[in-house]
Amino acid sequence: MTREERIAQSETHVFKVVFPDSLNHHNTMFGGRVIMMMTETAFMTATRFCRQTFVLVSSGQIDFKKPIPAGTMVELVGRIHKVGNTSIKIEVDVFLEHLHEDGREKVVNGIFTLVSLDENSKPTRILV
Ligand SMILES: CC(C)(COP(=O)(O)OP(=O)(O)OC[C@H]1O[C@@H](n2cnc3c(N)ncnc32)[C@H](O)[C@@H]1OP(=O)(O)O)[C@@H](O)C(=O)NCCC(=O)NCCS
Repeated sequence: MTREERIAQSETHVFKVVFPDSLNHHNTMFGGRVIMMMTETAFMTATRFCRQTFVLVSSGQIDFKKPIPAGTMVELVGRIHKVGNTSIKIEVDVFLEHLHEDGREKVVNGIFTLVSLDENSKPTRILV
């Protein structure tokens, strides 16, 4: 598989219904839960790109543009943003969908940097 094919096939989609266990006291999705899901999506995207071992080293600015109300759905989309030497940047977009209406809108966005580690927990080259 070429690098371009790996980038395309590693695009990762995660869906979740916004049930009460994800909410804050404003009856909207808790920001910390959104960040956790974004980080997981970034990890899965990096892993599916090259199947190496990754840890999170940095998260860039995360912008929460609109609240995510209870009883909606979210879709998280992870994409390769940049492949470095031992690190990789993954962009994660979060889209809000209402259950009984067509369409969706992007409400959160962030970029996460992960580093590939070898068996001695040292940074190692990304091989593809
Ligand atoms: C990941 C870790 C091994 C990197 O160690 P390090 O000494 O910074 O490694 P290096 O200086 O060789 O950098 C490795 C790569 O990470 C990148 N990097 C390091 N710190 C970074 C930061 N704050 N932001 C973005 N990239 C960073 C470097 O640019 C380099 O990328 P490149 O090889 O693609 O050019 C170390 O920071 C670590 O163990 N951190 C904890 C990770 C962890 O436990 N995460 C879970 C969440 S707590």
